[in-house]
Amino acid sequence: MTDHNSASPAAPHRQYWATRLGVILAVAGSAVGLGNFVRFPAQAVEYGGIFMIPYFVAFILIGLPIVWSEWAMGRFGGMRGFNSAPGIFSILYPRPGKSLIGGWSLMIPVGIYSYYVFIEAWCLAYALKYLFGVMPGTVALDEGGETASAAAYFLHMVGYGENGQVFGVDGAFLLACVAFCFAINLVLIIRGLNRGIEWFCRWAMPLLVLVALIVLVRVLTLGSPVAAAPERNVLTGLGFMWNPDGGEEHWWRQLLNAQIWMAATSQIFFSLSIGLGVIVCYASYLRRRDDVALSSTAAAAGNGFCEVALGGLIVIPAIFIFLGADQVQGLGGSTLGTGFMALPSVFAEMPAGRVFGFLFFFLLFLAAVTSSISMLQPGIAFLEEGLHLRRFQAAGILAVPTLIGVLLVMWYSANLVVLDTVDFWLATFGIFMLAMTQLLIFTFSLGIRRGLAALREGSQVGIPSWVGVLIGVVAPLYLSVIFITWLYQQITATEGNRFHALAQGPVLVGFGFVLALLIGFTLLSWIANRRWRAQAAAGLIPDPRMALVSEPEEDAP
Ligand code: ALA
Repeated sequence: MTDHNSASPAAPHRQYWATRLGVILAVAGSAVGLGNFVRFPAQAVEYGGIFMIPYFVAFILIGLPIVWSEWAMGRFGGMRGFNSAPGIFSILYPRPGKSLIGGWSLMIPVGIYSYYVFIEAWCLAYALKYLFGVMPGTVALDEGGETASAAAYFLHMVGYGENGQVFGVDGAFLLACVAFCFAINLVLIIRGLNRGIEWFCRWAMPLLVLVALIVLVRVLTLGSPVAAAPERNVLTGLGFMWNPDGGEEHWWRQLLNAQIWMAATSQIFFSLSIGLGVIVCYASYLRRRDDVALSSTAAAAGNGFCEVALGGLIVIPAIFIFLGADQVQGLGGSTLGTGFMALPSVFAEMPAGRVFGFLFFFLLFLAAVTSSISMLQPGIAFLEEGLHLRRFQAAGILAVPTLIGVLLVMWYSANLVVLDTVDFWLATFGIFMLAMTQLLIFTFSLGIRRGLAALREGSQVGIPSWVGVLIGVVAPLYLSVIFITWLYQQITATEGNRFHALAQGPVLVGFGFVLALLIGFTLLSWIANRRWRAQAAAGLIPDPRMALVSEPEEDAP
């Protein structure tokens, strides 16, 4: 199946995934990313083995139900001619407020892309440094010939100490990596659904798993390499990840803290790319006869495997063995500290660390690209079908806010405060809100009966009715409790209160960027909704407001 330039609901041509494996790899590619190999280990390390309990509970009670609902709603919208979240929600929720929901669902992937691509560039930079044997720790960093630690190098590289210092140690090199990452994402997205996203994921995903397995074998065969601490070996490292008690008597009391449940739920969302506005868009390119239930579960399971069995088993034992429990917990759950400071220190100590450092950061780079392209596709699909732009025009337009975002993130490098702010408001608050909204739309607007029918269409496995209860009742209840408790804690926090912090300059800049994206995309969604109504009035497309009660058209050949 080839790509077509127009994805407009008024156009006769529609786009579809070429193969079933292609869609599974594309969705798994979106899901498997920095979240699996860096964010998850950092979270698991912060909370200890007990983290796995809320993690698995969240996967089953909220992860899978949202995955199924997003796939079902996405395909439902796709069969009715829409590929973007604003289009899909215009038919699933044909009421006032739909433009805001559409704008919200575009703001999240576009905003997250703006800093994700920056981190992607660090991965590329590290991989190249290992490849050429110039990663600090192995060579002199400054003119004085002083050998810098990997941690110090990272802080220098991103100019962590002061704003505008990004042009410091390796400024030109880092900027070149950012430019390359920007370019590769845009090229892939312009090549289109099949020749860009699907093609890339088809070779990048297997390669990524292969590389991860090689690094995993290295870690699992390390034995006790630190002579001064022979008790630190792979088994004790694995115990650190899997033993819930952490050697404490009242270990289960941690489960009474809302924070650990929130952290696990948030990890599941980010990792599975749910509540991100991405899966609804990807699922809209499925055909009516395509299976949804099995493919979505396979993609989610693939993501879980990469997260727990690859990311967790590589990173946690490795940093435990070389750095010890105290230093590991001292990372405080910091994703960036774990990925870009602790791990390079590990590779500096590990036999053949240069090779494995290269392999690890190369796999991180691949994983990041398969995720970041998925954050651009919802915006592209919207600009195509909402404003009738061609793909390269849409990509050019999306480059503007994402470039502004990445420049802000880079400029405000002191404590990476803009990155942190945008991440909080989009990847935590924004995702929770969108996930909740989607569940409510599934339950009350589409309706559980129709939603289950959408899930069952083309399905290769039987979908029992309790799945409807899980999606329509259990998941929203679970999410509400977690979200409201978390919100209460955030609002009343005396330390690190995100709402109070809004008064600070750079935090306000980050928040302003998020707000600008929301206003801009809501406005564009509103314009698109008016155009679709006008097209429907002219008889060019079926009326989106009637889509819930009318039968979809047949798939295009
Ligand atoms: N799901 C993507 C990740 O884990 C965003 O990085």
